[in-house]
Amino acid sequence: MGMLSFLLVFCCFHVTFSFTDGSIANAEFEFGPKPQDMKGTVVTGGPHAIPGWEISGFIEYLKSGQKQGDMLLVVPNGAYAVRLGNGASIKQKIKVVKGMYYSITFMVARTCAQEEKLNVSVAPDWVVLPMQTLYSGNGWDAYAWSFQADYSLVDMAFHHPGKEEDPACGPIIDSIALKALYPPRPTNKNVLKNGGFEEGPYVFPNTTSGVLIPPNIVDLSDHSPLPGWIVESLKAVKYIDSDHFSVPLGKGAVELIGGKESAIAQVARTIPGKTYTLSFAVGDAGNSCEGSLSVEAYVGKESVKVPYESKGKGGFKRATLKFVAVSTRTRILFLSTFYTMRSDDFASLCGPVIDDVTLISLRKP
Ligand SMILES: *[C@@H]1O[C@H](CO)[C@@H](O)[C@H](O)[C@H]1NC(C)=O
Ligand SMILES: *[C@@H]1O[C@H](CO)[C@@H](O)[C@H](O)[C@H]1NC(C)=O
Repeated sequence: MGMLSFLLVFCCFHVTFSFTDGSIANAEFEFGPKPQDMKGTVVTGGPHAIPGWEISGFIEYLKSGQKQGDMLLVVPNGAYAVRLGNGASIKQKIKVVKGMYYSITFMVARTCAQEEKLNVSVAPDWVVLPMQTLYSGNGWDAYAWSFQADYSLVDMAFHHPGKEEDPACGPIIDSIALKALYPPRPTNKNVLKNGGFEEGPYVFPNTTSGVLIPPNIVDLSDHSPLPGWIVESLKAVKYIDSDHFSVPLGKGAVELIGGKESAIAQVARTIPGKTYTLSFAVGDAGNSCEGSLSVEAYVGKESVKVPYESKGKGGFKRATLKFVAVSTRTRILFLSTFYTMRSDDFASLCGPVIDDVTLISLRKP
Protein backbone atom coordinates (compact mmCIF):
# COMPACT_ATOMS: atom_id res chain seq x y z
CA MET A 1 0.00 0.00 0.00
CA GLY A 2 2.87 2.36 0.79
CA MET A 3 4.32 1.83 -2.68
CA LEU A 4 0.97 2.37 -4.37
CA SER A 5 0.27 5.61 -2.61
CA PHE A 6 3.78 6.76 -3.46
CA LEU A 7 3.12 6.17 -7.17
CA LEU A 8 -0.24 7.89 -6.96
CA VAL A 9 1.35 10.90 -5.39
CA PHE A 10 3.94 10.98 -8.14
CA CYS A 11 1.55 10.68 -11.05
CA CYS A 12 -1.14 13.05 -9.86
CA PHE A 13 0.32 15.63 -7.59
CA HIS A 14 -0.67 18.54 -9.81
CA VAL A 15 -4.31 17.45 -9.68
CA THR A 16 -4.85 16.26 -6.12
CA PHE A 17 -3.07 14.25 -3.49
CA SER A 18 -4.67 10.94 -2.64
CA PHE A 19 -5.33 10.23 1.02
CA THR A 20 -3.97 6.90 2.13
CA ASP A 21 -3.74 6.05 5.81
CA GLY A 22 -0.72 7.67 7.32
CA SER A 23 0.77 8.91 4.07
CA ILE A 24 2.01 12.45 3.75
CA ALA A 25 1.80 14.35 0.49
CA ASN A 26 5.04 15.87 -0.80
CA ALA A 27 6.71 14.64 2.39
CA GLU A 28 10.24 15.43 1.17
CA PHE A 29 9.32 18.74 -0.48
CA GLU A 30 10.53 17.51 -3.86
CA PHE A 31 7.59 19.31 -5.53
CA GLY A 32 8.23 23.00 -5.29
CA PRO A 33 6.51 26.29 -6.06
CA LYS A 34 6.16 27.51 -9.63
CA PRO A 35 8.94 29.96 -10.61
CA GLN A 36 6.48 32.89 -10.53
CA ASP A 37 5.63 31.95 -6.92
CA MET A 38 9.18 32.52 -5.71
CA LYS A 39 11.47 35.49 -5.24
CA GLY A 40 14.97 34.09 -4.91
CA THR A 41 14.48 31.34 -2.35
CA VAL A 42 11.49 33.00 -0.65
CA VAL A 43 8.07 31.56 -1.41
CA THR A 44 5.79 34.44 -2.36
CA GLY A 45 2.92 32.62 -4.07
CA GLY A 46 0.47 32.43 -1.17
CA PRO A 47 -0.72 29.62 1.08
CA HIS A 48 -0.87 26.88 -1.58
CA ALA A 49 2.40 27.58 -3.41
CA ILE A 50 4.05 24.35 -2.18
CA PRO A 51 2.07 21.35 -3.47
CA GLY A 52 0.36 19.36 -0.73
CA TRP A 53 0.99 21.96 1.96
CA GLU A 54 -0.66 25.04 3.35
CA ILE A 55 2.02 27.53 4.28
CA SER A 56 2.06 30.79 6.17
CA GLY A 57 4.71 33.33 7.02
CA PHE A 58 8.28 33.61 5.78
CA ILE A 59 9.10 30.32 4.04
CA GLU A 60 12.17 29.61 1.96
CA TYR A 61 12.35 26.77 -0.53
CA LEU A 62 15.93 25.52 -0.60
CA LYS A 63 17.86 23.30 -2.97
CA SER A 64 20.68 21.01 -1.97
CA GLY A 65 24.06 22.47 -2.85
CA GLN A 66 22.91 26.05 -2.31
CA LYS A 67 25.02 28.38 -0.16
CA GLN A 68 23.74 29.04 3.37
CA GLY A 69 25.84 31.84 4.76
CA ASP A 70 29.31 30.36 4.38
CA MET A 71 28.08 26.76 4.40
CA LEU A 72 26.85 24.57 1.60
CA LEU A 73 23.39 23.19 2.23
CA VAL A 74 23.24 19.41 2.08
CA VAL A 75 19.76 17.87 2.07
CA PRO A 76 19.62 14.30 3.41
CA ASN A 77 16.55 13.03 1.50
CA GLY A 78 16.01 14.16 -2.06
CA ALA A 79 17.19 17.58 -3.19
CA TYR A 80 14.85 20.12 -1.55
CA ALA A 81 13.90 21.36 1.91
CA VAL A 82 11.94 24.24 3.45
CA ARG A 83 13.00 26.78 6.03
CA LEU A 84 10.54 28.22 8.49
CA GLY A 85 11.21 31.86 9.32
CA ASN A 86 9.88 33.64 12.41
CA GLY A 87 6.31 32.63 13.09
CA ALA A 88 6.10 30.62 9.87
CA SER A 89 4.27 27.32 9.60
CA ILE A 90 3.49 24.53 7.17
CA LYS A 91 0.55 22.21 7.56
CA GLN A 92 -1.52 19.57 5.84
CA LYS A 93 -4.43 17.29 6.62
CA ILE A 94 -3.54 13.66 7.08
CA LYS A 95 -5.79 10.65 7.11
CA VAL A 96 -5.30 8.37 10.10
CA VAL A 97 -7.27 5.72 11.95
CA LYS A 98 -9.13 7.18 14.90
CA GLY A 99 -7.83 5.83 18.20
CA MET A 100 -4.55 4.51 16.77
CA TYR A 101 -1.13 5.59 17.95
CA TYR A 102 1.30 7.03 15.42
CA SER A 103 4.87 8.15 15.49
CA ILE A 104 5.99 10.98 13.28
CA THR A 105 9.63 11.19 12.23
CA PHE A 106 11.10 14.28 10.60
CA MET A 107 14.52 15.53 9.56
CA VAL A 108 15.38 19.00 10.78
CA ALA A 109 18.47 21.22 10.75
CA ARG A 110 19.11 24.15 13.03
CA THR A 111 20.51 27.16 11.24
CA CYS A 112 21.62 29.84 13.68
CA ALA A 113 23.50 30.01 16.93
CA GLN A 114 20.42 30.93 18.92
CA GLU A 115 18.24 28.34 20.52
CA GLU A 116 15.56 27.37 18.02
CA LYS A 117 12.22 25.80 18.75
CA LEU A 118 9.77 23.89 16.62
CA ASN A 119 6.14 23.35 17.52
CA VAL A 120 5.03 20.04 16.02
CA SER A 121 1.33 19.35 16.27
CA VAL A 122 -1.31 16.92 15.22
CA ALA A 123 -4.48 18.51 16.51
CA PRO A 124 -5.22 18.61 19.37
CA ASP A 125 -1.78 17.35 20.52
CA TRP A 126 1.38 19.36 20.18
CA VAL A 127 4.93 19.53 21.47
CA VAL A 128 7.52 22.30 21.37
CA LEU A 129 10.92 20.79 20.70
CA PRO A 130 13.95 22.79 21.77
CA MET A 131 16.81 22.44 19.33
CA GLN A 132 19.65 23.93 21.29
CA THR A 133 21.68 20.74 21.33
CA LEU A 134 23.14 19.63 18.06
CA TYR A 135 23.30 15.87 18.24
CA SER A 136 24.83 15.01 14.91
CA GLY A 137 27.86 16.53 13.26
CA ASN A 138 26.33 17.34 9.87
CA GLY A 139 23.64 19.54 11.41
CA TRP A 140 20.68 17.34 10.49
CA ASP A 141 18.82 15.32 13.08
CA ALA A 142 15.83 13.03 12.76
CA TYR A 143 13.33 13.49 15.60
CA ALA A 144 10.34 11.37 16.51
CA TRP A 145 7.19 12.33 18.32
CA SER A 146 3.97 10.40 18.78
CA PHE A 147 0.27 11.03 19.11
CA GLN A 148 -3.01 9.20 19.38
CA ALA A 149 -5.42 10.08 16.58
CA ASP A 150 -8.57 11.71 17.95
CA TYR A 151 -10.17 12.00 14.50
CA SER A 152 -9.73 10.25 11.16
CA LEU A 153 -8.66 13.43 9.36
CA VAL A 154 -6.28 15.60 11.36
CA ASP A 155 -4.21 18.75 10.87
CA MET A 156 -0.48 18.13 11.08
CA ALA A 157 1.54 21.33 11.48
CA PHE A 158 5.13 22.48 11.95
CA HIS A 159 5.33 25.95 13.38
CA HIS A 160 8.42 28.00 14.17
CA PRO A 161 7.47 30.22 17.11
CA GLY A 162 10.86 32.00 17.10
CA LYS A 163 11.41 35.74 17.16
CA GLU A 164 15.03 35.93 16.02
CA GLU A 165 16.17 39.23 14.56
CA ASP A 166 17.56 37.54 11.47
CA PRO A 167 14.65 36.25 9.36
CA ALA A 168 17.06 33.79 7.75
CA CYS A 169 17.24 31.96 11.08
CA GLY A 170 14.78 29.17 11.71
CA PRO A 171 14.76 25.43 11.30
CA ILE A 172 15.01 23.70 7.91
CA ILE A 173 12.73 20.70 7.49
CA ASP A 174 13.48 18.05 4.93
CA SER A 175 11.29 14.99 5.20
CA ILE A 176 8.42 13.74 7.31
CA ALA A 177 7.06 10.22 7.75
CA LEU A 178 4.28 8.61 9.77
CA LYS A 179 4.17 5.12 11.19
CA ALA A 180 1.38 3.40 13.09
CA LEU A 181 2.51 2.06 16.47
CA TYR A 182 1.25 -1.12 18.02
CA PRO A 183 1.71 -0.78 21.77
CA PRO A 184 3.21 -4.09 22.87
CA ARG A 185 2.02 -6.11 25.84
CA PRO A 186 4.10 -7.87 28.48
CA THR A 187 4.43 -11.62 27.88
CA ASN A 188 4.91 -14.55 30.22
CA LYS A 189 8.61 -14.42 29.27
CA ASN A 190 9.06 -10.76 30.07
CA VAL A 191 7.29 -8.47 32.51
CA LEU A 192 8.56 -5.48 30.52
CA LYS A 193 6.91 -4.18 27.37
CA ASN A 194 8.97 -3.73 24.21
CA GLY A 195 12.14 -4.81 26.05
CA GLY A 196 13.93 -5.47 22.75
CA PHE A 197 12.95 -2.07 21.28
CA GLU A 198 11.49 -3.82 18.27
CA GLU A 199 8.58 -1.38 18.18
CA GLY A 200 9.77 2.12 17.47
CA PRO A 201 9.54 5.17 15.20
CA TYR A 202 9.98 5.22 11.43
CA VAL A 203 13.63 5.35 10.34
CA PHE A 204 14.45 7.02 7.01
CA PRO A 205 16.20 4.44 4.82
CA ASN A 206 18.91 6.77 3.54
CA THR A 207 19.96 8.44 6.76
CA THR A 208 22.57 7.20 9.18
CA SER A 209 21.72 9.57 12.02
CA GLY A 210 19.32 7.31 13.94
CA VAL A 211 16.15 8.89 15.34
CA LEU A 212 16.16 11.14 18.39
CA ILE A 213 13.41 10.56 20.90
CA PRO A 214 12.99 13.72 22.93
CA PRO A 215 12.16 13.61 26.63
CA ASN A 216 8.55 12.76 27.37
CA ILE A 217 6.89 15.92 28.57
CA VAL A 218 4.18 13.93 30.28
CA ASP A 219 4.42 10.47 31.70
CA LEU A 220 2.51 8.65 28.98
CA SER A 221 4.48 5.59 28.07
CA ASP A 222 1.69 4.37 25.76
CA HIS A 223 2.17 7.52 23.84
CA SER A 224 5.92 7.29 23.35
CA PRO A 225 7.48 6.77 19.90
CA LEU A 226 9.25 3.99 21.79
CA PRO A 227 6.17 2.20 23.14
CA GLY A 228 6.44 1.10 26.76
CA TRP A 229 9.38 3.39 27.54
CA ILE A 230 9.63 6.88 28.96
CA VAL A 231 12.53 9.14 28.06
CA GLU A 232 13.17 10.46 31.54
CA SER A 233 15.82 13.07 31.12
CA LEU A 234 16.74 16.47 29.83
CA LYS A 235 18.27 15.15 26.64
CA ALA A 236 17.02 12.84 23.96
CA VAL A 237 17.91 9.20 23.49
CA LYS A 238 18.59 7.81 20.04
CA TYR A 239 16.66 4.99 18.41
CA ILE A 240 18.91 2.93 16.16
CA ASP A 241 18.12 0.10 13.76
CA SER A 242 20.11 -2.84 12.44
CA ASP A 243 20.01 -1.53 8.84
CA HIS A 244 22.30 1.32 9.82
CA PHE A 245 23.95 0.33 13.10
CA SER A 246 25.28 -2.61 15.02
CA VAL A 247 22.41 -3.77 17.23
CA PRO A 248 22.78 -6.54 19.86
CA LEU A 249 19.54 -8.38 19.06
CA GLY A 250 16.75 -8.00 16.52
CA LYS A 251 16.07 -4.80 14.62
CA GLY A 252 15.95 -1.97 17.14
CA ALA A 253 17.95 -0.73 20.13
CA VAL A 254 18.59 2.50 22.03
CA GLU A 255 21.80 4.51 22.18
CA LEU A 256 22.13 6.62 25.34
CA ILE A 257 23.78 9.69 23.84
CA GLY A 258 23.41 12.33 26.53
CA GLY A 259 25.44 10.95 29.43
CA LYS A 260 23.55 11.13 32.73
CA GLU A 261 21.10 13.51 31.07
CA SER A 262 19.89 10.76 28.76
CA ALA A 263 17.84 8.09 30.51
CA ILE A 264 15.00 5.76 29.72
CA ALA A 265 12.65 4.11 32.15
CA GLN A 266 9.72 1.78 32.37
CA VAL A 267 7.41 0.99 35.25
CA ALA A 268 6.74 -2.73 35.54
CA ARG A 269 4.00 -4.51 37.46
CA THR A 270 5.64 -6.62 40.15
CA ILE A 271 4.59 -8.71 43.12
CA PRO A 272 6.01 -7.49 46.45
CA GLY A 273 8.31 -10.03 48.08
CA LYS A 274 9.10 -11.82 44.83
CA THR A 275 12.63 -12.03 43.47
CA TYR A 276 13.19 -10.77 39.93
CA THR A 277 16.09 -10.81 37.53
CA LEU A 278 16.63 -7.84 35.25
CA SER A 279 18.79 -8.83 32.29
CA PHE A 280 20.01 -6.62 29.45
CA ALA A 281 22.63 -6.20 26.76
CA VAL A 282 25.15 -3.32 26.80
CA GLY A 283 27.16 -2.63 23.68
CA ASP A 284 28.15 -0.10 21.05
CA ALA A 285 26.43 0.80 17.81
CA GLY A 286 29.46 0.31 15.55
CA ASN A 287 29.51 4.06 14.95
CA SER A 288 33.02 4.96 16.11
CA CYS A 289 31.91 5.59 19.67
CA GLU A 290 35.19 4.47 21.21
CA GLY A 291 36.53 4.20 24.74
CA SER A 292 35.22 3.41 28.17
CA LEU A 293 31.43 3.43 28.08
CA SER A 294 29.23 2.59 31.04
CA VAL A 295 25.55 1.95 31.64
CA GLU A 296 23.89 2.26 35.04
CA ALA A 297 20.68 0.39 35.75
CA TYR A 298 18.49 1.38 38.71
CA VAL A 299 15.69 -0.65 40.24
CA GLY A 300 14.35 0.82 43.47
CA LYS A 301 17.33 0.97 45.84
CA GLU A 302 19.35 -1.53 43.83
CA SER A 303 21.68 -0.56 41.02
CA VAL A 304 24.41 -1.95 38.84
CA LYS A 305 27.08 -0.19 36.82
CA VAL A 306 28.14 -2.03 33.67
CA PRO A 307 31.42 -0.89 32.13
CA TYR A 308 31.90 -1.59 28.44
CA GLU A 309 35.14 -1.05 26.54
CA SER A 310 34.16 0.00 23.04
CA LYS A 311 36.30 -0.14 19.92
CA GLY A 312 33.45 1.53 18.06
CA LYS A 313 32.97 -1.43 15.79
CA GLY A 314 29.93 -3.09 17.37
CA GLY A 315 29.59 -5.80 19.99
CA PHE A 316 27.90 -6.25 23.33
CA LYS A 317 27.95 -8.02 26.67
CA ARG A 318 25.16 -9.06 29.00
CA ALA A 319 24.46 -7.91 32.53
CA THR A 320 21.95 -8.82 35.21
CA LEU A 321 20.57 -7.35 38.38
CA LYS A 322 18.65 -9.43 40.90
CA PHE A 323 16.23 -7.73 43.28
CA VAL A 324 13.27 -8.35 45.54
CA ALA A 325 10.24 -6.27 44.60
CA VAL A 326 8.92 -4.04 47.38
CA SER A 327 5.92 -2.68 45.52
CA THR A 328 3.34 -3.56 42.87
CA ARG A 329 5.01 -1.08 40.56
CA THR A 330 8.75 -1.10 40.05
CA ARG A 331 10.59 1.55 38.07
CA ILE A 332 13.49 0.31 35.93
CA LEU A 333 15.84 3.04 34.72
CA PHE A 334 18.94 3.06 32.50
CA LEU A 335 21.39 5.87 31.96
CA SER A 336 24.87 6.38 30.57
CA THR A 337 27.61 7.35 33.04
CA PHE A 338 29.72 9.40 30.63
CA TYR A 339 29.43 11.89 27.79
CA THR A 340 31.12 10.55 24.69
CA MET A 341 31.84 11.95 21.23
CA ARG A 342 32.36 9.91 18.11
CA SER A 343 36.03 9.52 17.24
CA ASP A 344 35.37 10.07 13.52
CA ASP A 345 33.86 13.56 13.68
CA PHE A 346 34.21 14.86 17.30
CA ALA A 347 30.92 16.69 16.85
CA SER A 348 28.35 13.95 17.31
CA LEU A 349 27.24 12.80 20.73
CA CYS A 350 27.26 9.06 21.16
CA GLY A 351 27.08 6.51 23.94
CA PRO A 352 26.43 2.94 24.97
CA VAL A 353 23.64 0.90 23.44
CA ILE A 354 21.12 -1.05 25.48
CA ASP A 355 18.92 -3.79 24.12
CA ASP A 356 17.09 -7.02 24.94
CA VAL A 357 15.91 -5.93 28.38
CA THR A 358 14.03 -8.67 30.18
CA LEU A 359 12.52 -8.85 33.62
CA ILE A 360 11.48 -12.25 34.92
CA SER A 361 10.44 -13.48 38.32
CA LEU A 362 12.36 -16.36 39.82
CA ARG A 363 10.24 -19.29 40.90
CA LYS A 364 12.51 -20.15 43.83
CA PRO A 365 13.85 -16.97 45.38
C1 LIG B 1 1.64 24.66 19.21
O1 LIG B 1 0.77 24.52 18.09
C2 LIG B 1 -0.56 24.18 18.41
C3 LIG B 1 -1.31 23.95 17.12
O2 LIG B 1 -1.18 25.02 16.25
C4 LIG B 1 -1.19 25.23 19.30
O3 LIG B 1 -2.51 24.86 19.66
C5 LIG B 1 -0.33 25.41 20.54
O4 LIG B 1 -0.85 26.44 21.33
C6 LIG B 1 1.10 25.72 20.15
N1 LIG B 1 1.91 25.77 21.38
C7 LIG B 1 2.74 26.78 21.65
C8 LIG B 1 3.45 26.74 22.97
O5 LIG B 1 2.95 27.69 20.86
C1 LIG C 1 18.33 6.42 -1.25
O1 LIG C 1 19.55 6.67 -1.94
C2 LIG C 1 19.63 6.04 -3.18
C3 LIG C 1 21.03 6.28 -3.75
O2 LIG C 1 21.45 7.58 -3.52
C4 LIG C 1 18.51 6.58 -4.09
O3 LIG C 1 18.57 5.94 -5.35
C5 LIG C 1 17.15 6.33 -3.44
O4 LIG C 1 16.12 6.91 -4.21
C6 LIG C 1 17.13 6.93 -2.04
N1 LIG C 1 15.88 6.56 -1.37
C7 LIG C 1 15.14 7.44 -0.71
C8 LIG C 1 13.91 6.92 -0.05
O5 LIG C 1 15.42 8.63 -0.64
